[in-house]
Amino acid sequence: VLVGAGVLSDLGRLVRERLGSAPSRACLVSDRGLPAPTVTAARTALAGAGFHVSECTLLAEETSKTLSAVEPVLAELLRSRHERTDPIIALGGGIVGDLAGFAAAIYRRGVPVVQCPTTLLAMVDASVGGKTGANLALPAHDTAGAPDLKKNMIGAFHQPALVLADVNTLGSLAPREFRAGLAECVKHAMIAAGVARATYPADPDLFTFLESAAPRIAALDQAALVELVARNVAVKASVVAGDEREEAPDDAGGRALLNLGHTFAHAIETLPGAHAPGLPAPLKHGEAVAIGLAAAARLACDLGSLSQPELDRILALLQKLTLPAQASGLPPTPEVLDRMRHDKKVLSGRLRLIVPDSLGRARVRSDVPEAQVMAAIDSVRAPKP
Ligand SMILES: NC(=O)c1ccc[n+]([C@@H]2O[C@H](COP(=O)([O-])OP(=O)(O)OC[C@H]3O[C@@H](n4cnc5c(N)ncnc54)[C@H](O)[C@@H]3O)[C@@H](O)[C@H]2O)c1
Repeated sequence: VLVGAGVLSDLGRLVRERLGSAPSRACLVSDRGLPAPTVTAARTALAGAGFHVSECTLLAEETSKTLSAVEPVLAELLRSRHERTDPIIALGGGIVGDLAGFAAAIYRRGVPVVQCPTTLLAMVDASVGGKTGANLALPAHDTAGAPDLKKNMIGAFHQPALVLADVNTLGSLAPREFRAGLAECVKHAMIAAGVARATYPADPDLFTFLESAAPRIAALDQAALVELVARNVAVKASVVAGDEREEAPDDAGGRALLNLGHTFAHAIETLPGAHAPGLPAPLKHGEAVAIGLAAAARLACDLGSLSQPELDRILALLQKLTLPAQASGLPPTPEVLDRMRHDKKVLSGRLRLIVPDSLGRARVRSDVPEAQVMAAIDSVRAPKP
């Protein structure tokens, strides 16, 4: 994983360095929402390193993140006579990364993929770890209305040959999308002291870094963004390296730790009326994650595994990063709890939650009394205006 400011203009050389001289073609799959100069920079860099570049664009919308979006990419690969050693370059946010990565996993049973994330979330999370895939929709006639979209229901593990994160691409990202990525950074900071591999030492100071660098991060200071992305990638990579396929037992933590705040978040984000105070519905995933982190922290405090000052620091950091810690428009608490029980991470009906254990550490727990979970949900309910 290479992180830097302006590194996209070096894409061709870096791909050559990684894959050698064998590949002659590269298929650039880019996000239709990107500014033209970002796509041009990638195309020019690839052509400059001698690649014949074929291209596809994708719409970055959850409703379009389906198998039918992958087909034109596969057709383009066939049309351009893409060989086994030729790379697919995914240039965009998590949606494009997941779809292009999935195309790379299945075309000729696997061609190399190079992830070039252009959202903060994709840089610190989606581009690292090898999960690729698409959503699966039940046809509308089975659901009596709009198609029922099951997120990331299909996919493959397909590790990228290279990840190239150019923080300069973040300049064109909508502020609300940028903040969504920051929620995942707070999540990483809440587990970073407890995850370490040989390549990546634990990062107990990541939380303090976020606290002190918040103004520079908000101002898109290049050095602060490079450090932010690099340190968060190290946390994600460290967790994934220890549990590549999410098979670790609960007491070992593993990839499940990355779901901190997410069981609350998934339940809240699928509620049609839920929104962050002062922001229009629907809730963005990152906003729901921030609210989920606040709920998980409150739960940990009630269970005695997080101190009140630690809880206060987490809530203060969310505020500093202009992330919500409460939701408006929530239905009665038992309804939210019921949605949490239907989360795909729930095993055999038992609520399995990631609970902070101190600032920087968390563990998987299946023994949390429902009354405590309900109290945590209530704690993120915004007061009626
Ligand atoms: N594979 C994984 O491990 C993993 C992890 C987390 C999330 N995901 C997936 O990632 C997706 C969310 O990704 P995301 O948050 O990056 O959102 P996204 O891909 O939907 O992009 C968000 C928006 O930003 C636009 N955009 C992207 N880069 C831009 C730029 N530089 N300038 C201007 N606009 C830009 C896109 O066109 C889109 O409108 C979800 O589908 C989720 O399931 C995957």
